Amino acid sequence: MKKKMGSLFMAGVIAAAMLSGCAGAESESADTEESAEAESAETAEQDTATESSNDISQKKIGICIYQFDDNFMSLYRDELVNYLVDQGFSEENITVEDSELSQEKQNQQIQTMIDNGVDVLIINAVNTSEAAGITDMAVGAGIPLVYINREPDVAEEQRWVDNGWEVTYVGCDARQSGTLQGNIIVDIGLEKVDQNDDNIVQYIMIEGDPENIDAQYRTQFSVKALEDQGWSVKCLYDEVGNWDRESAKQLSKEALEKHPETEVVFCNNDSMALGALESINEAGRTVGEDIYLVGVDALTEALDDVIDGSITGTVFNDYFDQSHRAAAATINYMKGAGNDHYIGCDYVMVTKDNAQEILDRIK
Ligand code: GAL
Repeated sequence: MKKKMGSLFMAGVIAAAMLSGCAGAESESADTEESAEAESAETAEQDTATESSNDISQKKIGICIYQFDDNFMSLYRDELVNYLVDQGFSEENITVEDSELSQEKQNQQIQTMIDNGVDVLIINAVNTSEAAGITDMAVGAGIPLVYINREPDVAEEQRWVDNGWEVTYVGCDARQSGTLQGNIIVDIGLEKVDQNDDNIVQYIMIEGDPENIDAQYRTQFSVKALEDQGWSVKCLYDEVGNWDRESAKQLSKEALEKHPETEVVFCNNDSMALGALESINEAGRTVGEDIYLVGVDALTEALDDVIDGSITGTVFNDYFDQSHRAAAATINYMKGAGNDHYIGCDYVMVTKDNAQEILDRIK
């Protein structure tokens, strides 16, 4: 569990400032009518200033998404903006940029947002290994920063804690999603999964982009879940599909041609599982009968496939919960309430048993 810290210091500074303001007003009170009037005008002005500084409809938010061309992040982005507007932000004060898979481009977008006076940044980093540069820009400009979905590394997160910076990460622990993928296969039972009865599960792995911790952990922990049950596993093929359906389709096609003995196809996300499914069908294989297929995200199309049995299972990557928590963290920073430096969410295992329920939730 990560260490959690609130911005108690900031809250303390604000409370102290408010108290001293009140005390000052009292000691100067009402010697003459004139001074009373002047004072009440001043207080009214202060109140209006405080109101407008707390009025979130006036606040500017800058959002960067690592690339719009990503199914899951498109769902996340729409929900985030809708929810921010529901919470009282004005749509015209929310800028959302497509970083088009370029960290350089994203850095320029962030700089422009800072120059334009945004009050909070919500960033889905392109290269999480370069997050320190993003943090430095935001902290240097005194702007709170909420990272979403692509988690910076431990050393970077530690800097936020050590320096008490207004920087946080909102997301799920990808280890959990990998474990749940593996558990879907484990629950089917070795007898069924092990088609060729050699007591070894032969699998192929299609990975998201390798720099991303989600891809690393899902790859590792899905297989670990099988090994933790004492199952023997053999990796036949492991390639990078970059979260992309078409790439995954091509890779799975190649893998299935080379390795007809494949029993399980692990994909780090649903877009890639949908691509893999096309190749599985083209290879004349049938999910649930002679091969098993799992993804992550719970995209609508994948859920439909889980319901009709053509995908074995997926893991719900709850973008409602994540985007709402990111919005809440944004509001906390606006109001000077501060945030923990890590705000976690849970994944949910999805099989035929609960796929309809998840579909009803996201529709
Ligand atoms: C993951 C998600 C992927 C992709 C990735 C982008 O959490 O499962 O589909 O959107 O984020 O970083």
